Amino acid sequence: MQISGDTLTYKLQPVSTEKPGTYTASVWAVLKSDGLQQAMPVVDFQIGTATAEKQIVEKEKCATCHLGVSNGNSIFTIIDPAVAGQTGNWGA
Ligand code: HEC
Repeated sequence: MQISGDTLTYKLQPVSTEKPGTYTASVWAVLKSDGLQQAMPVVDFQIGTATAEKQIVEKEKCATCHLGVSNGNSIFTIIDPAVAGQTGNWGA
């Protein structure tokens, strides 16, 4: 990884045997001095085809089990921190 000011550059391996489709890349950045300050931007990109795949997370397929009753959001991760407000990726 190369760091230049607030720009991080990371060269991925060349595309080889990946199946054609839409992929999502993300970087999870956590401020060392304050773990609650985090960013996780995502970007979609295509490999082997210009046709973007459709999102498979649709209400009719996932809501039966994953739709939160109280907030109306889809919840796909088990969020059960032992201590409220702790830092880290305890949902994964
Ligand atoms: C019939 C109920 C049901 C349906 C429908 C369902 N899920 Fe799940 N899903 C579950 C259960 C139960 C778990 C937890 C499994 C475990 O922890 O062992 C789970 C776990 C997950 C997880 C992993 C969460 C984690 O933190 O490990 C993801 C991601 C997920 N589901 C996505 C989806 C998506 C996307 C759909 C729709 C395309 C979907 N699920 C449809 C019941 C369902």
